[in-house]
Order: sequence, then C-alpha cells, then structure tokens
Amino acid sequence: MRFASSTLLSLALLAGSAVAHPGHDISEEIRERREFLSTAKRTNLDHCAPKLKARGVEKRNVLRREALLEKARAKRGLNKKRDLETVLATDHNKTSLGYTTNTDPAVLFAGYNACLLTPEVTQGPYYVGGEYVRENIAEEQAGVDTILDYQVIDINTCEPVPEVYLEMWHCNATGVYGGIVASGNGDSSDETNINNTWLRGIQKTNSDGVAQFETIFPGHYTSRATHVHIMIHQGATLLANSTLGNSNITASHVGQAFFDQDLITEVELTAPYNTNTQELTTNADDGILGEETATDGVDPFYEYTLLGDDVSSGIFGWIAFGINATATQDVTPAAFYYAEGGVANPNAGAGGGSGGPPPSGNGNSSSAPASSSTASA
Ligand SMILES: *[C@@H]1O[C@H](CO)[C@@H](O)[C@H](O)[C@H]1NC(C)=O
Ligand SMILES: *[C@@H]1O[C@H](CO)[C@@H](O)[C@H](O)[C@H]1NC(C)=O
Ligand SMILES: *[C@@H]1O[C@H](CO)[C@@H](O)[C@H](O)[C@H]1NC(C)=O
Ligand SMILES: *[C@@H]1O[C@H](CO)[C@@H](O)[C@H](O)[C@H]1NC(C)=O
Ligand SMILES: *[C@@H]1O[C@H](CO)[C@@H](O)[C@H](O)[C@H]1NC(C)=O
Ligand SMILES: *[C@@H]1O[C@H](CO)[C@@H](O)[C@H](O)[C@H]1NC(C)=O
Repeated sequence: MRFASSTLLSLALLAGSAVAHPGHDISEEIRERREFLSTAKRTNLDHCAPKLKARGVEKRNVLRREALLEKARAKRGLNKKRDLETVLATDHNKTSLGYTTNTDPAVLFAGYNACLLTPEVTQGPYYVGGEYVRENIAEEQAGVDTILDYQVIDINTCEPVPEVYLEMWHCNATGVYGGIVASGNGDSSDETNINNTWLRGIQKTNSDGVAQFETIFPGHYTSRATHVHIMIHQGATLLANSTLGNSNITASHVGQAFFDQDLITEVELTAPYNTNTQELTTNADDGILGEETATDGVDPFYEYTLLGDDVSSGIFGWIAFGINATATQDVTPAAFYYAEGGVANPNAGAGGGSGGPPPSGNGNSSSAPASSSTASA
C-alpha cells in the first residue's frame, strides 16, 4: 500500500510547491529536514528489529495492537471473530495487508516501518502550546474514527523510550486547524476558533514507548498532503489540570506522518470530507513528504487496517518513531492555550515555525528558558 521511495521521490521532484498555508513558506522546514537527514547515520529501525524481537517488545506490540483493534471493533459492534488460519494460508501479500480485516495479527502488527523524528525545532505552523494530555482528541469533530498506536524507539540503543510526552495535532475533516485564527485556516473572521482544542492532544509513553490516541482521520488543505504533526516532549511535568502548561515548552523531536493515497481517496469520498472545497495535494506532490522519502529507508507512513469492511467503520493505524536522543530546544507555538482561553503568539512569525523563544508576559507564560540540554533516553 505504500509508495516505493524512488517513485515518490521522482514525483515529488516534479512538484516544487513550497507553500503550506497561504502565507507560510515551508522551504525552510524542508531545508532543515534535508540537512538533518543527510547527516543522520540511521534513518529507520531495521537494525533494531532483532533486538526488539529478542526482548519481547515485538510480541507485546502484536498483542497490544490486536487488543486495541479488537476493543475498537467491539465498541462499534464489528467484533465478529475472523478465521486467522484460513487467512494465513491464503494471504501473504504485504501490500494488501492494509485493506483486509482478516489478516493474522502476528503478521499485521510485527515490524517497524518507522519515521525518524528530527531533533530540531521545525515544528511547522499551527502548533499550539498548553493543550490537554488525553487519549481522545476528537471532541465534537465529525469524521472517520481513527485509532492510533505510536511507539518511540531510541535508534542508538534500540530501546523503547518511556515517560516522554508525545503530542499530535492535525486539521479537521474540512482542512481547518482548531486553536488558530489565520488567513488560509478556515474562516479567519471566526475568532472563536482560538478557543478550540479539538484534534490536539498529548499522551505519555508507557514502558514500551507506546502512546495511543483516538481521533478522526484528518482532512486536507491547500498545498499539503493529508498529514499529522508529531512532537515529543522530554522531561516535561504534568500539571494538575492535565496539561504540560505553557511555561516551559520544549521539544526534542518533531515530525509528520502520512497515510497511503488509496486510503485518503476512500476517506475523501465520505461525508463530511467530500464537502471540503480546498485543493487536494496528493502524497506524490507534497514537498515535505518528498524530502522524507528522498532518504533511503525513511517510511513516514502509518501502517493501518480497517475496523470493519470499509473506511466509514473506522481505521486503526500504527507507526514507530526512531529518535536520536538529543538536547531539547525551545519551541515557538503559533498560539497558547490557557484556562482563560487561547491567545495567539504575537512573536510566532509566519505560522510559528521560526524557532525563536516564546514571548514573556503572555498570560501565564514565563520568559523562555535558555535551550536546556536535557539529553535522555
Ligand atoms: C545521533 O546524533 C548525534 C549528534 O547529533 C550524531 O553524532 C550521531 O551520529 C547520531 N546517531 C545516529 C545513529 O544517527
Ligand atoms: C498485492 O496486493 C496489491 C494490492 O491489492 C496488488 O496490487 C498486487 O498485485 C498484489 N501482489 C501480488 C504478488 O499478488
Ligand atoms: C472544521 O472546523 C471549522 C472551524 O471551526 C468549521 O467551520 C468546520 O465546520 C469544521 N469541519 C467539520 C467537517 O466539522
Ligand atoms: C475564549 O474563551 C474565553 C474563556 O472562556 C473567553 O473569555 C473569550 O471571550 C473567548 N474568546 C473568543 C474569541 O471567543
Ligand atoms: C520547567 O522545567 C524545569 C526543568 O525541567 C522544571 O524544573 C520546572 O518545574 C518547570 N516549570 C514548570 C512550571 O513546569
Ligand atoms: C493549566 O495550568 C497552568 C499552570 O497553572 C495554567 O497556566 C494554564 O492556564 C492551565 N491550562 C488550562 C487549560 O487550564
């Protein structure tokens, strides 16, 4: 179901579009990512597979993902027992795994297609600090139920990375981010969007480096392929109100994850995705994805299976992230979320991707700490 890197690269080279949100130029993000990938010694987790298997992590991944999938199916009345033996005997086409509901979990959930997260602050536009630590981030947003299982692995030690906070955010079914009022992000005259927290959330990784979420499948917006933003906070403190606050926003790794085009096509045919009037950019035409896959071994796609017989019944996706433990750095959110509501960051620049320090005197935001070097895991 996934692109061969070489095909994707050659298609991406034809693309040349560098505008993510109107007014936000992603060329800087692409440049930093290219620089990082060109110096990275490891770009995937292939070398970790034997160790993870030997230590039982792979087996636990299979059991955990199977349990999560079965629970999600049961909740939706889709839990008819499947004949795994038959399927094992007849279906060994890995390419088609994504679309069968009958695949043996041991085959389906093993392996580590992985995306290497960048240890830099190219967090991209529309990051909002101060969001909630919670598993279900969908709130009232309509769309295809999507359950995600992430695993964070240290590429140097091949050990899972526990006790870090994995944050994710993405746009809604019609391609609008909550928490941001900006031209190019839905109706920019609707100032109430600054208070929206939907489709943003944080989870702490467990002893197997795992964080799970429930959300809806993201929609698309002009000039970017469908994607999810990921950020990892190391050494963060959970506050009483279930946020990490806005005082100390640092991140050690950032990245984006993508979905197979076939899957996107299926989802986009359903409501309310099919009411989105923004231009659709395919994976093949996405500048950032092109940069990823230009590096051998990088596979920033979710593996997935459907909860039922078609996409409308829901999707279960999983991906591992390789991280190279490095110093954490300050992050510049485009906005902050506080008990008193959302506040745009006046110092965010075009979309907040610049990496400068957060402002002081903004609600509860303290002045930015100097780049702390809390290398860990
Ligand atoms: C991890 O990062 C360090 C410092 O940037 C670098 O020297 C090392 O080669 C990286 N390791 C891998 C496996 O890429
Ligand atoms: C594997 O499945 C894909 C998608 O269904 C199909 O295009 C491909 O031809 C299959 N390959 C084999 C060897 O059957
Ligand atoms: C996405 O969010 C925008 C802004 O709140 C809203 O107008 C739009 O209806 C949402 N899309 C869907 C499908 O709910
Ligand atoms: C956001 O929510 C806060 C707190 O409820 C409220 O005071 C503020 O008016 C809201 N802002 C907008 C633009 O609706
Ligand atoms: C900020 O980070 C430092 C270092 O991790 C920690 O000691 C401090 O408690 C944090 N402050 C808040 C308000 O979270
Ligand atoms: C959570 O607590 C922090 C620290 O008191 C505060 O700054 C922030 O506004 C609170 N956020 C929410 C959403 O309640």
